[in-house]
Amino acid sequence: MPQLHPDLARVLISPEQIDQRVSELAKTISSDYKKEDKLYIIGILKGAFIFLADLTRKLEIPHTVDFMALSSYGKTTTTGAVRILMDLREPIEGMHVLIVEDIVDTGNTLSYLHRILKGRKPASVKTCVLLHKLRDSLDVPLEYVGFEIPDVWVVGYGLDFADRHRTLPFIGELKRE
Ligand code: IMP
Ligand code: MG
Repeated sequence: MPQLHPDLARVLISPEQIDQRVSELAKTISSDYKKEDKLYIIGILKGAFIFLADLTRKLEIPHTVDFMALSSYGKTTTTGAVRILMDLREPIEGMHVLIVEDIVDTGNTLSYLHRILKGRKPASVKTCVLLHKLRDSLDVPLEYVGFEIPDVWVVGYGLDFADRHRTLPFIGELKRE
């Protein structure tokens, strides 16, 4: 086994575990939306790009992919403020929308996004998130969750620490210091 990067404490989720869970999620989503003529998938940049690429290639239903980029201020801490850095190309009125996010921590980003998207009158809005940090008080429903994880900083498979470690094939826990 190759040496773990010195910034990392341990591998939390292996590539094989990720692949299996992403297949399960794709199967459930494909079945849940099989009656709709199209699913409008919104990937949240940058963190969700790898998860989104794997998930969408496993879907068995017609779908469109678009992206939004959001930012909360600061490198690793999540403050209340969220900004839209890049918006959708089309209106989503009447569409079945699925938000694909890398991770939900405080739920701030998602709750803001949910509010914005609902205001655009889609037929429905659901959320698929790869990782959910176990905390209390989340005011947004999470319909599809890959893994529940402890409250640690994780990197890899799209997730970063100050833009580092994003392309690791596994989810790793960052050392505290
Ligand atoms: P929230 O608004 O607190 O739910 O934070 C959500 C955003 O913070 C995510 O979309 C990530 O971009 C980032 N984030 C939160 N926790 C982590 C982590 O452990 N690793 C990498 N990014 C994280
Ligand atoms: Mg994110």
